[in-house]
Amino acid sequence: MNAHEFLCGSTDLDEGQFRESRATIDGEVRYLILTRHQDAVRAWLNVCPHQGRPLNWAPDQFLTDGNGNLVCAVHGAVFECDQGRCVSGPCRNASLTAVEIEEREGFVRLK
Ligand code: FES
Repeated sequence: MNAHEFLCGSTDLDEGQFRESRATIDGEVRYLILTRHQDAVRAWLNVCPHQGRPLNWAPDQFLTDGNGNLVCAVHGAVFECDQGRCVSGPCRNASLTAVEIEEREGFVRLK
């Protein structure tokens, strides 16, 4: 992992917003999902535990349900925003893979 790699600016991530970012983790370029939930920034690999596909339907475009949960665009698995656990759909109880990040001095970076 490239510690402290820049992911986005703090002002680029509003409460409840999801966005895509790229990071080099263990020497590989990986795509991440970033979100801000209850004022804390969270990140997961953009890999659905159902079939390993990205969750977004277009670059930087993610679906949510009426409760603000993240919805996989491929088969509709629903993930809660605090732990990334699937609460509905074909991979119920599986979780997205969390990525350690930090928000400091107006930037979100890998930890
Ligand atoms: S790949 Fe995400 S629900 Fe099937």
